[in-house]
Amino acid sequence: MSQSFAEQVEDVRAAALEALDAAAGPEDVEKARVEFMGRSRGRLKDLMGLLRKLPAEEKKTAGRLVNQLKKQLTEAFEVQKKGRSGALAAGAGVDLTQPAARLEVGHVHPLTQTFEELQEVFGSLGFSCVEGPEIETEHHNFDALNIPSDHPARDSFDTFFLDSGGLLRSHTSPTQIRVMESGPPPVRVIVPGRVYRPDAVDATHHYCFHQCEGLMVDEDISFADLKAVLNMAMEGVFGPGTRTRFRPSFFPFTEPSAEVDVSCIFCGAEGCRICKRTGWIELLGAGMVDPAVFEAVGYDPERYTGFAFGIGVERLAMLKYQIPDIRMFTDNDLRFLEQF
Ligand code: FA5
Repeated sequence: MSQSFAEQVEDVRAAALEALDAAAGPEDVEKARVEFMGRSRGRLKDLMGLLRKLPAEEKKTAGRLVNQLKKQLTEAFEVQKKGRSGALAAGAGVDLTQPAARLEVGHVHPLTQTFEELQEVFGSLGFSCVEGPEIETEHHNFDALNIPSDHPARDSFDTFFLDSGGLLRSHTSPTQIRVMESGPPPVRVIVPGRVYRPDAVDATHHYCFHQCEGLMVDEDISFADLKAVLNMAMEGVFGPGTRTRFRPSFFPFTEPSAEVDVSCIFCGAEGCRICKRTGWIELLGAGMVDPAVFEAVGYDPERYTGFAFGIGVERLAMLKYQIPDIRMFTDNDLRFLEQF
């Protein structure tokens, strides 16, 4: 069946707009213009020829269709011609010498940067990096760490318990147990990772934060080794001259235990508002691995000794970069994140 006149008009419209759309440059536009609007042999001209042959009663409607098409195509070709030649002529609408729009490139979160730095510093002291699961067992999070179910220290490491019977680890220390269960000494590892506690959120506490555990076990490891390693590591993170101070403390899985402070990097240990005029800032817990822990993992406590420590990574990053509130790490505010 032959096409109606209206259908032929629609065909020409579609073909012309498609050709314009596909045109890669002014030459293509001109070629399409000649094909569709050319005075002697254009497809619009052909439609005019057909129009003349139509019966008188159809001519009025058909004539209106052709005029509309002509107007639309004239405008479309005009716009294309101006746009494309303008784009090519520098200075006419498009400045080809203008620098291209900047590509925004993302970067590493400040906490990840802190982890990478810790990995580098401890790596240079011979520590390798291992990771443990965030969903832990009571055995790894408590019992094997010398925290039996009736021990009051369970409260300090309280956590979220899952219906499945597991729990969210409340510190990275359970991975100490996993590492020692998986093979004999020597051991020299750090364990970076996320931990959970039912703590109320404030400027220095979060219910979900990060720790970096350290564990070294071998024959003849002493408290002096612990002091030397932490001194060197803190100098590596905060710069030369940074000192550490060990205060007696208690952890069920270390004996003796200590809270470790670093000399205040803001006032050079002179005493300022940030260190509460003491010259020291508390950063981590540490100590010599308790013989009961060695027994739990099958190490001979008569032969092996070792030390362990657990650093609060947000606290370390807050100190290093002078961040006043722990919540800033998770607010996802680009004005904060872009500074690192
Ligand atoms: C522990 O978690 C021990 N497992 C550390 C340890 C490991 C001691 C090995 C001895 C040997 P503590 O509960 O003190 O210890 O936490 C360690 C660090 O985590 C703290 O010094 C602090 O920097 C950080 N921290 C503790 N609770 C929070 C919290 N709610 N939000 C942010 N940081 C916290």
